[in-house]
Amino acid sequence: GPVLVLAGGLSHEREVSLRSGRRVAEALRAVGLEVYERDADAGLIPAIQEDPPSAVFPLLHGTAGEDGSLREVLDLLEVPYVGSSAAACRTAFDKPVAKTIVSAAGLCTPPSVVLPHETFRELGAHTVLERIVARLGLPLVVKPTKGGSALGCSVVRSMDELPSAMVSCFSYGEIALIERYVAGTEVSVAVIDIGDGPRALPAVEIVPDSGMYDYTSRYTAGATQFVAPARLPSAAAAACAEAALVAHRALGLRDLSRSDLIVDADGVPWFLEVNVAPGMTETSLVPLAVESAGLDLGVLCRDLLHLAAD
Ligand code: DAL
Ligand code: MG
Repeated sequence: GPVLVLAGGLSHEREVSLRSGRRVAEALRAVGLEVYERDADAGLIPAIQEDPPSAVFPLLHGTAGEDGSLREVLDLLEVPYVGSSAAACRTAFDKPVAKTIVSAAGLCTPPSVVLPHETFRELGAHTVLERIVARLGLPLVVKPTKGGSALGCSVVRSMDELPSAMVSCFSYGEIALIERYVAGTEVSVAVIDIGDGPRALPAVEIVPDSGMYDYTSRYTAGATQFVAPARLPSAAAAACAEAALVAHRALGLRDLSRSDLIVDADGVPWFLEVNVAPGMTETSLVPLAVESAGLDLGVLCRDLLHLAAD
C-alpha cells in the first residue's frame, strides 16, 4: 500500500516541516513509491485507522515531532515508521539529557548550565547571570533545552547581551540551556542505518554568510555556504564520524539521525545536539550529505521505509 509522509504539526518549525515533507514525498515518488502527505492533526488517528499506510515517514520537527509523543501515537496505532523509538526521541530531544548521555559515552560537549524560567524570575536576572558568567565565562550560547532551527538561540559575547538573549530563549521554551561557546568549524554528521549497522555520511561544513547559522541563514537559499565533505584534516573528519556514531548508539537511535558538532582548533569535535527528525528541505544538511556520499535521497528514504515495514 501507499506510504504516508507526515509533516506540519504545531511547533515553531511547522513551515520547515512542510518543506521537508514535500521534498521527501517528491523524492519518494521519483523512485516509484505511492505516497500521500498529511498533517499530524486531530484527523490523523481516524485516517490511519480507516486506511493504514504500509509505513510512515515522520517529518515533524520540534515538539511532538521529535519529543516522542507523535511516535507514541503511531505505536498505539501499530503502524510502522522510520526513525527512532518514542523513548529514544524523548531522551535525544532534551539537549541537557542528551549531553549527559553522550558525555558519559566519552564525547566532549560544552560545559553548561540549565536554567528554568521560574528560577530566573525568582532569583532575579542580575544574580543568576553573574553566577553563570562567573562559572562559564564568555562568550556563551543560550538556547531552549527543547527546540530546533536555532529559534530562541543566541551567541552572547558580553554581559549586557545576556538579558535579551534570555528573553528570546524563554519565548521559545520554559528552560534555558546556557553553554560555553566553542570556537571552531561548525559541521553536521548524518548517520544512516539501512539494515547493515549505522554508518556516518561525510561531514557537512556550515559557513553562514552572516556569521551566525540562525533561522534565516538556514532556510534562505544562498545565505549559507555548505562544504561537503567538510574541509577537515582526515583525523578530525574521522573523529566527527565516530562522534556521530557514538551519539547515535549511546542514545539508542534508529535508522537516521544527524549530530551537530563544533570542531575546535585541535580537531576535537564538541557535541551540541542530535536531531531525530533532521530537516530535509532544499537547504537542509541531510540531503547534502546524502548527495555528497553519492547516494540518492529517494532511494535512501525508500530503503528506510521498506525496512520499517518489514
Ligand atoms: N531542526 C531542523 C529541522 C534541523 O535540524 O534540520
Ligand atoms: Mg536541532
